[in-house]
Amino acid sequence: MKILLFGKDGQVGWELQRSLAALGDVVALDFDSAGLCGDFTRPDGLAQTIRTVKPHVIVNAAAHTAVDKAESEPELARTLNAVSPGVLAEEAERLGAWLVHYSTDYVFDGTGQRPWVETDTPSPINVYGQTKLEGEQLVAARCQRHLIFRTSWVYAARGGNFAKTMLRLAQERERLTVIDDQIGAPTGADLLADATAHALRQVQNQPEAAGLYHLVASGETTWHGYAKCVIEHARRSPVASTIRATTVDPVPTTAFPTPARRPLNSRMATDRLRTVFSLTLPPWQKGVERMLAEIL
Ligand SMILES: NC(=O)c1ccc[n+]([C@@H]2O[C@H](COP(=O)([O-])OP(=O)(O)OC[C@H]3O[C@@H](n4cnc5c(N)ncnc54)[C@H](OP(=O)(O)O)[C@@H]3O)[C@@H](O)[C@H]2O)c1
Repeated sequence: MKILLFGKDGQVGWELQRSLAALGDVVALDFDSAGLCGDFTRPDGLAQTIRTVKPHVIVNAAAHTAVDKAESEPELARTLNAVSPGVLAEEAERLGAWLVHYSTDYVFDGTGQRPWVETDTPSPINVYGQTKLEGEQLVAARCQRHLIFRTSWVYAARGGNFAKTMLRLAQERERLTVIDDQIGAPTGADLLADATAHALRQVQNQPEAAGLYHLVASGETTWHGYAKCVIEHARRSPVASTIRATTVDPVPTTAFPTPARRPLNSRMATDRLRTVFSLTLPPWQKGVERMLAEIL
């Protein structure tokens, strides 16, 4: 099986390079690799790449993920998150290939208290969410053999992330203030990549499993709960003596105004994924502690 991976150096892309290697021959691209265009500002170039490589599977881990920046560059965000994924879908359909695409809890407006299910009506409240929603709609409309995974609060050992920021702040300050009214599930890029490979293997014999799935670690927390988990873990780690923070104060979202609004309720129900693919999704703390064990 020949697999074409876009966005190879992002959090999820990096882990996919590992997990997809067990499925076949992976051609992994960033913006411009080995003369092949992987630049999402150039939809025509992406089409040309797909026609050259002729993959059986396309996995798209590239995206415009800078949520606040997207507010001031909506056209660029739309090109990366919607127009180019739409072109991948057209080209995948022409080849009869599978297309894996990732989306986000930010397609929802964050109202209510219950976990969102796949059939709930999306209603994004920021540009990033709007462009991601358009992207998933184009993928679903243009390519029959698609898997779209909506996820949330992604972290990885590689690159920057919320946990690393909290560790740094806990080393610099005695008191931290962290938002406690947004609720979701921190989800490891490694879990996303492993679940993707598992699902891709299964759909080869079960094409009717194509569709949209929520894919997040189990359980729920707030950014405040997440920060406390990180700092408590650090206090039991080799860097314990460097941790200065004694207090982590909870504050509402309104305490940190940002260009993009964030949904408060980012809970996502994963029943569909767990049933169709017989997957177990571990508690969010397990993955975060593993990532911390790697970086501390
Ligand atoms: N991160 C989250 O919390 C989160 C939450 C929900 C859903 N998701 C979704 O999960 C997927 C993977 O996200 P991630 O966390 O792995 O994001 P990420 O680490 O930001 O990776 C995105 C990748 O896309 C690349 N990229 C940016 N502009 C590009 C362009 N013009 N052409 C080609 N590549 C370009 C980035 O390169 P540079 O780094 O060089 O710009 C980066 O390698 C995305 O679809 C995202 O929307 C993420």
